[in-house]
Amino acid sequence: MKIDVLTIFPEFFREVFDFGIIRRARIAKIVEINIHDIRSFTTDKHRMTDDRPFGGGDGMVMKCEPIFNAIEKIVGTAERENYPAGTRVVLLSPQGKVFKQSAAKKFADEAKHVILICGRYEGVDERVNDALVTDEVSIGDYVLSGGEPAAVVLADAIVRLLPNALGSETSAVNDSFTNENLLDCPHYTRPPDFRGMKVPEVLLNGNHAEIERWRKEKALEKTKKIRKDLLIKE
Ligand code: ADE
Repeated sequence: MKIDVLTIFPEFFREVFDFGIIRRARIAKIVEINIHDIRSFTTDKHRMTDDRPFGGGDGMVMKCEPIFNAIEKIVGTAERENYPAGTRVVLLSPQGKVFKQSAAKKFADEAKHVILICGRYEGVDERVNDALVTDEVSIGDYVLSGGEPAAVVLADAIVRLLPNALGSETSAVNDSFTNENLLDCPHYTRPPDFRGMKVPEVLLNGNHAEIERWRKEKALEKTKKIRKDLLIKE
């Protein structure tokens, strides 16, 4: 998979993809991640990436021209209908569809080239959405000062699901949200007794069927307690 990030703050990403699973996946060439400075796609003297909104109002709007130029260069065309198969152009914005594990899985399974556009300020000129964007995505019902942290969230959630990105094939299978929309069960490691807090006996007895049952029960218990909404089928 190839991931290209468009941002006015390329420095933000300097080290964020240099750790753990994402770093390993990059080294193993499972994914290639490139960061692009939107400003480098401007053509005006002042290299402006934003401007005042038509119709008045507060704040600035990100200009469409540098973003069109960037997509043209990175994808080969600025016409959504002509994107190569497996190309997804994602605009990170609080107006987007809320990102879920199922969406991460779909990107990991189906996309070959993901372009993440980090919005800033009061928004992005709507013509970017109209002509370029295949998916407008939000990471939750809160407002960030820009799409950069959201781009990191998407890249991380998608890359770890790519084939061979995780150490063992089963690691992702038991993730929260993967199984029937349940949260993951609690985990413990040594010591079995820490300051009087004991690891549940069932995990120490080696009875795998019983452990499996306990894990399922705890996952359900935890989900009921803090994420009841997950148990209501969409
Ligand atoms: N930009 C600002 N807020 C955002 C959010 N919640 N998700 C994605 N991008 C954003």
